[in-house]
Amino acid sequence: MDDSRETHRPKAFVTGFPVKHSRSPLIHGYWLKMLDLPGSYQAHEVAPEGFADFIVSLRNGSAGFVGGNVTIPHKEMAFKLADQPDELSEELGASNTLWLEDGKLLATNTDGRGFTANLDERHPGWDRHDRVVVFGAGGASRAVIQAVRDRGFKEIHVVNRTVERAQELADRFGPKVHAHPTAALAEVLTRAGLFINTTSLGMDGEAAPAIDFSPMLSDAVVTDIVYVPLKTPILAQAEEQGFAIVDGLGMLLHQAVPGFEKWFGRRPVVDETLRALIIADMEKH
Ligand code: ATR
Repeated sequence: MDDSRETHRPKAFVTGFPVKHSRSPLIHGYWLKMLDLPGSYQAHEVAPEGFADFIVSLRNGSAGFVGGNVTIPHKEMAFKLADQPDELSEELGASNTLWLEDGKLLATNTDGRGFTANLDERHPGWDRHDRVVVFGAGGASRAVIQAVRDRGFKEIHVVNRTVERAQELADRFGPKVHAHPTAALAEVLTRAGLFINTTSLGMDGEAAPAIDFSPMLSDAVVTDIVYVPLKTPILAQAEEQGFAIVDGLGMLLHQAVPGFEKWFGRRPVVDETLRALIIADMEKH
């Protein structure tokens, strides 16, 4: 090992509250090892009342980190407290990736890039049609709506139990985004090329509603941002009905790529070994 490697061991973190369930240390640890890079990535739990102080220590260098990931419930505060959030974060009002540059704290949100990179990898051509249906209007749906709009989908239909929340997102993300109550699902699925579940329905063994996907185009894709279980009840139904499905695990893996590159200087690759590592970890818990 040469001197520069000995003296330069960048440290990065994932913070949340709680944070112990985060799989980010496994992902980044795998890449550090694969690329034989010096450095570390660790879970660093911070309670909401301590978050502003944590950001101060991050910015002034006393925390010793070059940057890190931010998860629930700190994404909005991370955006507000960063010196330079990028345009993606600005529109979402939330940041999940922070890094220091010339003493300034920069911020972005990589969830949308994770979403599109997963589909690009697992189902090329997923973006060939005009109409997409986003089921759910919670925090997790925002980056997805932004990503499909920026990818060029012409009609983005957000369907939610509470239609007012879907309407807020239509107002936020512009004229291509339309809000609907759940009762309109069959109608908006007509000729759709992509269905994205962003609700918590079907997560961790919870029941999910029966959905008839048959109004969609025959080569449509159904995806879920939930990845526990890997094949959610919504994905299982879509597959039984003959549609292509893409699970949400790759979104988690791909959203980690830009941060790793910022902190450790190399662009890592999402490969099958990494996927298998996370699946094995999911089976343990
Ligand atoms: P997150 O930030 O993880 O997206 P959230 O803000 O609580 O979490 O949003 C969860 C999403 O799942 C919402 O779209 C929610 O619908 P409402 O906005 O109407 O609450 C949806 N959801 C959760 N449980 C649901 C249920 N039993 N039936 C229908 N939708 C549900």
